[in-house]
Amino acid sequence: MQNAKLTLGEQTFELPVLEGTEKELAVDISALRTKTGHITFDPGYGNTGSCKSEITFIDGERGILRYRGYDIEDLASQATFPEVCHLLIYDKLPNREERAVWRKRLTQHSFVHESMLNFFEHFPPTAHPMDVLSAMIAALPAFYPDENDIHLDIIRLLAKTKALVAIAYKKSLGEPIVYPKTDHSYTANFLRMMFASPAEPYVCSKTQEDALTLLLILHADHEQNCSTSTVRMVGSSHASVYASVSAGISALSGPLHGGANQEVLEMLEAIRQEGGATKKYIARAKDKNDPFKLMGFGHRVYKNFDPRAKLLKKSCDAVLAELHIDDPLLEIAKELEEAALKDSYFVERKLFPNVDFYSGILYRALGIPTNMFTVMFAMGRMPGWIAHWKEMRDNPQERIHRPRQLYVGNPQRPFPPIAERK
Ligand code: SDX
Repeated sequence: MQNAKLTLGEQTFELPVLEGTEKELAVDISALRTKTGHITFDPGYGNTGSCKSEITFIDGERGILRYRGYDIEDLASQATFPEVCHLLIYDKLPNREERAVWRKRLTQHSFVHESMLNFFEHFPPTAHPMDVLSAMIAALPAFYPDENDIHLDIIRLLAKTKALVAIAYKKSLGEPIVYPKTDHSYTANFLRMMFASPAEPYVCSKTQEDALTLLLILHADHEQNCSTSTVRMVGSSHASVYASVSAGISALSGPLHGGANQEVLEMLEAIRQEGGATKKYIARAKDKNDPFKLMGFGHRVYKNFDPRAKLLKKSCDAVLAELHIDDPLLEIAKELEEAALKDSYFVERKLFPNVDFYSGILYRALGIPTNMFTVMFAMGRMPGWIAHWKEMRDNPQERIHRPRQLYVGNPQRPFPPIAERK
């Protein structure tokens, strides 16, 4: 690959050009400051690659998403969520024997240390589940001391996240917690832990189990998004996988990132309350004097369509029909999408529905309350965060992340005695 040439003043510098598996190209600036005394400037890192990764490939122009080379459409229609976890973390779809052992270990480790349950007693019922989850994940090492076994940590994180989410929900209702059953799948166990009660047993239908599996698989990884980059940043200091993932959960909670799925439902509900005011909300999204954004629309990488949104939209129709649910918010979402995609503002800016636009409709259909949508996103993204943390820590070349800046503050000035300060 021919080097890039950078001319600064009278000097011309050569910079290597790197090529990825899918012919993506990158100018390697890792020696730029040493060679030229300059740094690059790229707020939001929209043009900056932070690492080489073998985990997920996204082509934003062609709407391609692959985990370890497998198309998301194939994984969504044929894999289980535990298989996708194993694939992302270990770069291998488990064979029959491996899958049985993996599934058994995930179920065995789904129980949460009984002393941790006391924690939940002291969160107010109004605590946001993302705050609770981030705190409880960070607390796990206190109850499960480090055995220097990353594979055990990985199983614990995957298995206990599901339990912590369900426990947080039960505690917010003041209901007794439900323990996992060894003969249930990952998703069936979760739904049972969420919705079973002493008054009535809960058995999820195949439709419900498949819908949740789809949601978890579609959220499982998305390369260097805000929360995954956070996990890699925190992990680069050699912080534990628990501390790194807890930081990722906090990053995901933001309304511009994972918090958007909750905001989408609240937006659709507001439109419904106002008699289907889709035009009003589209006008607000376009108004530069209004901070409102059309939640669930737009993406830093996808500039044609988010393949996950397409799969979720299709699943919404099927699941709601099979569950005999007539959700007016689905119709409002479709009207909003149709109106926006005809509007030049959205078309010119290549703003399309993203993964969050339809996911909330499915979560609602499964009975999951709106304030838990983002923890569901976190549960799905857990294998991706772990995979990236492990990839980074397994790479001996990885250094602590420490970006540079352009200082634009005050020049040097003398220290004023208190008497001279205005
Ligand atoms: C996720 O990175 C990932 O992979 C994330 C994710 C994952 O799986 O991890 O895919 C999950 O976070 C999906 C995104 C969820 N967030 C939302 O739905 C919130 C609404 N969307 C926007 O906030 C926004 O589109 C972002 C945050 C998703 C992307 O922001 P960018 O890439 O920084 O884009 P931008 O803000 O620079 O927007 C470019 C233009 C601007 O207008 P102009 O200044 O050019 O006039 O598009 C406008 C923006 O104002 N714009 C929107 C808009 N999104 C962008 N205008 C109205 N409504 C929107 N939703």
